[in-house]
Formats: sequence, C-alpha cells, structure tokens
Amino acid sequence: MSLTNPPSSSGSLSRTRVGNLKRSLQATVDDAIESRRPGGYTSKVRVRDRYNIVGFISSGTYGRVYKAVGKNGKKGEFAIKKFKPDKEGETIQYTGLSQSAIREMALCTELSHANVVQLEEIILEDKCIFMVFEYTEHDLLQIIHHHTQPQRHAIPATMVRSIMFQLLNGLLYLHTNWVLHRDLKPANILVTSSGAIRIGDLGLARLFYKPLNSLFSGDKVVVTIWYRAPELLMGSRHYTPAVDMWAIGCIFAELLSLRPIFKGEEAKMDSKKTVPFQRNQMMKIVEILGLPRKESWPGLASMPEYSQLQSLVLHRQPSHFHRGSNLEGWYQSCLKNGGYTSTSGAGTPGADGFDLLSRMLEYDPSKRLTAEQALEHPYFTNGGAISGNCFEGIEGKYPHRRVTQDDNDIRTGSLPGTKRSGLPDDSLMRASKRLKE
Ligand SMILES: Nc1ncnc2c1ncn2[C@@H]1O[C@H](COP(=O)(O)OP(=O)(O)O)[C@@H](O)[C@H]1O
Ligand SMILES: [Mg+2]
Repeated sequence: MSLTNPPSSSGSLSRTRVGNLKRSLQATVDDAIESRRPGGYTSKVRVRDRYNIVGFISSGTYGRVYKAVGKNGKKGEFAIKKFKPDKEGETIQYTGLSQSAIREMALCTELSHANVVQLEEIILEDKCIFMVFEYTEHDLLQIIHHHTQPQRHAIPATMVRSIMFQLLNGLLYLHTNWVLHRDLKPANILVTSSGAIRIGDLGLARLFYKPLNSLFSGDKVVVTIWYRAPELLMGSRHYTPAVDMWAIGCIFAELLSLRPIFKGEEAKMDSKKTVPFQRNQMMKIVEILGLPRKESWPGLASMPEYSQLQSLVLHRQPSHFHRGSNLEGWYQSCLKNGGYTSTSGAGTPGADGFDLLSRMLEYDPSKRLTAEQALEHPYFTNGGAISGNCFEGIEGKYPHRRVTQDDNDIRTGSLPGTKRSGLPDDSLMRASKRLKE
C-alpha cells in the first residue's frame, strides 16, 4: 500500500466541528460533575463485562495502562488507560477529573485519522475513567532500543522514511484541526504490528485556534525537555505548531542515530518555584546548531531569556560556539556510524534527509517547516513510493510489548507513577520575576 502525498484534508474537522469539539469538552466536564453527585451516576457499562485484562503495560503519568482482549463477542486487543481519582491521605476522594484526562477524552473522541491512536470507548466506573484504545504492539522508544541491542544496528532508511511520513501525516491532521500535541517523543509514538504509526498520548494536547497567548497558563506541564523547542527554552509564552515540528525533527535525528540528539539535563525548580533557564538543554542544542543569531532569528533579542543566553556565551566560550551550525557534520558522522550508504543494506536518507532535518531543526519558529511543507519535501517526493507499513521489506521481527502479570487487577493498583517532567506553567513568571529578585 502506498500513501497519497500530500494527504488530502478531507478527513479534517471543519470550523463547526471544532465548535462541536469544544461543546463536547463541556459535555465531558458536565458529565463528570454529574457523576460527583451522591448516587447520581452509575456506570452503564463495566470494564470487566466487556474486556478480559491480560496484563499490565505501564504506569504512566496520570494512570496505568493495561492490555485487554474483548469478550462477549467483541474482537480484538485493546490498551485500557485508567485515570484514577485524586487521593488525599489514605482516603480516595473524588476531587475532580484531571485536566489531562478531560483533554485526552475530548480530543480523542472527535479525532479520527489513520495516524492518530484510535479511541474505542470511554467507561466511567467507580470514580475512575477508563479510556479504551486499540492495542499497538510497539512504540518508537521500544523500536529504537531494539536497534541498540545486542549491538547498534541502524534502522533501515526506508523504514525511517515511512515512519516520518506517517508521523507527519498524523501531525498535519492534528494541526489542521487546531490541535497541538505538545509532548511528542518516541514513547508517545505508537506502532501497530502491521507497521502503522499512531500518534498517542494526547494528554497534553490542546486546541489552539482561539487565544494563543493563554496557552501558557492553566496547566502544570509541557513537553519533555529533550524535545523542547528553543523558543520555549528562551521563555516564549506562545505555543505554536512549530513546537511540535521541533520535536519531530528531534525524533527524526534519533531514529537515525539511535540516541536523543539533544540530551540535556533538566534544571529543577528552586524552593521558590521559579523555573530556571534550562541552560544545559540549551547548551546541547548550541553545541550542534551553533548559537542562535539575531540576524537569522529576529525575535530572539526580545525573548525573556535572552540575557541568560548571553551569559551562557560569556561564561563558556568553547570555540564551537562561534563556528555556526555543525549539524551537517553531526549528520555525516551519524550516516557513517549507522552504515547508511546507497549500496548498504540499510540504504541512506541521503542529502535530502539532511536538508529536511535542518529545516525542522530551524531556530526561528516562523521559518521552521510546517507539517504540510515537510510532507512536500524532496526527501519524500524523490525516490520510490512510501509504504504505509513501516516494516515492509524488513527482515526480522521486533519483540512484542512487555506485558506483566504483577498487577493485572484493573480495580486496584497504586496511584499514578512519576510526574511528567516539564515546565510548570507558572514559568510565564520566570524571567521577569527573576530579574526583579
Ligand atoms: N494503545 C496502546 N497500545 C499499547 N500500549 C500503549 C497504548 N497506549 C499507551 N501504551 C503504553 O503505555 C505508555 C503510557 O501511555 P501514554 O498514553 O503515553 O500515557 P502517559 O500520559 O502516562 O505517558 C506508552 O508509552 C506505551 O508504552
Ligand atoms: Mg506518554
């Protein structure tokens, strides 16, 4: 099967549907409030009447994910994401639905695209929300990891191309429908056993068609630091689709090199809860891309963290800071280490691959490629057809997702795992606040 290129936007939501989407968000909240009235809500369906839990997959940020199979005539495998109510002390209290759960529910119910994870149904039961998704056997984190074992062996160039094409198709669909993902990283990119890419984890996704500038307020966290766009590191309060495109650029680089390209260490918040400038992360980017320059990124000098960027230059002056971008050098050694050549079994992403990468890892968000432009890039339009199955022609199998039996009781289980690493949104205070202090 080959995908059409560029994709038609016929599957996209119209403005009215965006309105509906907002209303359905309200309805979701209303339903949730309804369910808080004593005796006001009894679940119509019970999870265990419809699914057999096969095992436990992962303890995520807001809940747990289980593998299940349908029962009573319902066919197929599913991943059930359980959002738990808040726990206060020893007693479980229903203090409300997490914002993340509401967002994910509202968006997933409306969205429908081959490259976005498909929601099967939502079940409210015993003060927990169960989101039932189609099951995916793999994700990009697991695939990248597999290629480092027992020793590093490159992901074939045709497979990388198919992954990127499908990923950008899914992202174009989200962006066309005014949805920003905001947490794109390998663990959130799901892959089915037939090689279809599904963008997952819409827990941080937000509609952006309305007030752009309020996107920085209200919620606790944003994207994982390694995939965080430079404008966010520089203190920008505006989320734009370009933030997702930066992350996609980082994922492209990681698929080719099997390592995160900008693997910075996160600076933690201090006791006053001021969010620090992510110096180390910015350094990692600068080491490869060179310093951002006012001439090529006009908005730079007015960014909240501009003075921090300058102090970074003053305090440390390794020569590479002044050399300009070394992305091409990085790319060439990545091809060399990966054995990517036109005659090798892995094939090569070639010069077009470099050009695409450099345009996605563009400092100035207004110049960075959009998903639509990326799909029209020669990397995709030159060369042969792109398979909708990223495993097509690939020898060998990828290991199945690990499913454990430690905790396959969907009713109980401990509370959500670690908090997602990210910037609290009170960081909009950060630069100005620090200046005053
Ligand atoms: N549909 C799915 N099928 C199989 N595994 C999944 C599915 N959705 C999520 N997972 C697994 O569970 C993990 C956590 O799910 P995710 O939706 O990313 O939640 P969180 O907000 O906790 O990160 C994923 O990284 C993936 O390993
Ligand atoms: Mg996740």
